[in-house]
Amino acid sequence: MDFVELKRRSSTSRRLLLLAGIAAICLFIFRNSSSFSTSVKFSQHEPGVTHVLVTGGAGYIGSHASLRLLKDSYRVTIVDNLSRGNMGSVKVLQELFPEPGRLQFIYADLGDAAAVNKIFSQNAFDAVMHFAAVAYVGESTQEPLRYYHNITSNTLLLVKAMAAHGVKTLIYSSTCATYGEPEKMPITEVTPQSPINPYGKAKKMAEDIILDFSKTSDMAVMILRYFNVIGSDPEGRLGEAPPPELREQGRISGACFDAARGIIPGLKIRGVDYTTPDGTCVRDYIDVTDLIDAHVKALEHAKPSKVGIYNVGTGKGSSVKQFVEACKKATGVDIKIEYLSRRPGDYAEVYSDPSKIRRELNWIARYSLEESLAIAWRWQKVHRNGYN
Ligand SMILES: NC(=O)c1ccc[n+]([C@@H]2O[C@H](COP(=O)([O-])OP(=O)(O)OC[C@H]3O[C@@H](n4cnc5c(N)ncnc54)[C@H](O)[C@@H]3O)[C@@H](O)[C@H]2O)c1
Repeated sequence: MDFVELKRRSSTSRRLLLLAGIAAICLFIFRNSSSFSTSVKFSQHEPGVTHVLVTGGAGYIGSHASLRLLKDSYRVTIVDNLSRGNMGSVKVLQELFPEPGRLQFIYADLGDAAAVNKIFSQNAFDAVMHFAAVAYVGESTQEPLRYYHNITSNTLLLVKAMAAHGVKTLIYSSTCATYGEPEKMPITEVTPQSPINPYGKAKKMAEDIILDFSKTSDMAVMILRYFNVIGSDPEGRLGEAPPPELREQGRISGACFDAARGIIPGLKIRGVDYTTPDGTCVRDYIDVTDLIDAHVKALEHAKPSKVGIYNVGTGKGSSVKQFVEACKKATGVDIKIEYLSRRPGDYAEVYSDPSKIRRELNWIARYSLEESLAIAWRWQKVHRNGYN
C-alpha cells in the first residue's frame, strides 16, 4: 500500500466516523425531542397508565370526559372529525395538559376503516369511550341513513378494530331513546327497548352488535344509557357549543339560553295538556359532570367477559315548565314563553330508575337542575359565539 492510498483510506474512515457521530447526535436529539417521546408514549403500553381512546372528544360530552380523565391522570387520545365538535375545546385541554404523553388529538372520520385501523396500529389503547355520533332525534327522522351509518356502522367498524388490535374495554354512550315510549315509569334497565325513531334504533342496533360480540370475546363492556344531558364544567373551562345551524334541532337548555341572550325572541312550549302534574312534558335532566363521573366509575368497574348496562339519570322528572322556571332563575332573565299545541312524537313522561348504577357502581347524581343550569349559564354568558 503506497502513501497516497494510506492517506485516502484514513480520510475516508475519518469521514465515516464524522458521519456516524452526526447521525448519533441527530438520533439523540430526535429521541429526546418532545414529538418522539410523545409518540412513543402513545404507542406503547406503560405500567400504571391507562390510555383511553375518546371518540367524539371534541364534542360536548366527550370534551368533558377528556377533561376528567386527564385530571385523573389517564392518557387520552381524542379522535374526532370535527363535524359537530369544536377544536376550541381541544385547545383548552391542550393548554391545561401540555406535558408530553398526556393528550393527543387525531383528526379522523370513524367511518374510514383504513384510518381507524391505522390509529389502532399506531397507538396502544387500554380502553375506548365511544361518544362520537350524530345525536338529534328530529334530524334522525329526516336523515335516517346518515344515522344508521354514523352510529351503527361506525360502531361496528370500531368494535372490529378493537378486536383486531386486542383492545379489551369499551364504554359505550347509549341513550334512553332506545326505550321508546315505555308504558311504565320509571325506566329500569330491564324495561323493554322499543325505539321509535332512527336515532334510538341506530343506538339500539349498535348496542346489539356490541352485546353479540361480547358473547364471543373477553371484552369488558359497559353500556350507559343517558337521559337528557345538561350543564358544563363547574370551573368554567368547557361548555356546550353545537354548530349554529343545529340550533333548530336543539335541546331545551340551548333554547333557554338563546332566549335569555336575546338570540331568539322567546321559548315555544309545545303541549300543555299532557297527563303530567302541570300538563307539560316531563324529562330527567342529568348534569354532564355527574354523567362523566358515571363513565369513570364504569371504566374502573369494567371486568373482562362481563357486560354492565346502566341508566344514567337522576331518577327525578322535571316538567318543561319547571325547567323554564329554573332557567329564568339561573339567567335572571324573564324569558318570554309562547304556548303551542303538542309536537307529534313527543311523549308525556320519561325518567329513570338509577338504583342499579347506585348499587353496583356506587354512583349518584349530585347536581340539581338549578345548580346545573346556573353553571352552564356562567359559561354561555361569556361565550356568546361558543369557542370562537
Ligand atoms: N347530549 C345528550 O343529551 C345525549 C343524550 C343521550 C346520549 N348522548 C350520546 O352521547 C354522545 C355524545 O353526544 P354529544 O351531546 O356530546 O354530541 P356532540 O355532537 O357534541 O359530540 C359528538 C362528537 O362526535 C364527533 N363525530 C360525529 N361523527 C363522527 C365521525 N364519523 N367520526 C369522528 N367524529 C365524529 C363530532 O364532531 C362531535 O365532536 C353521542 O353518542 C350521543 O348519542 C347524548
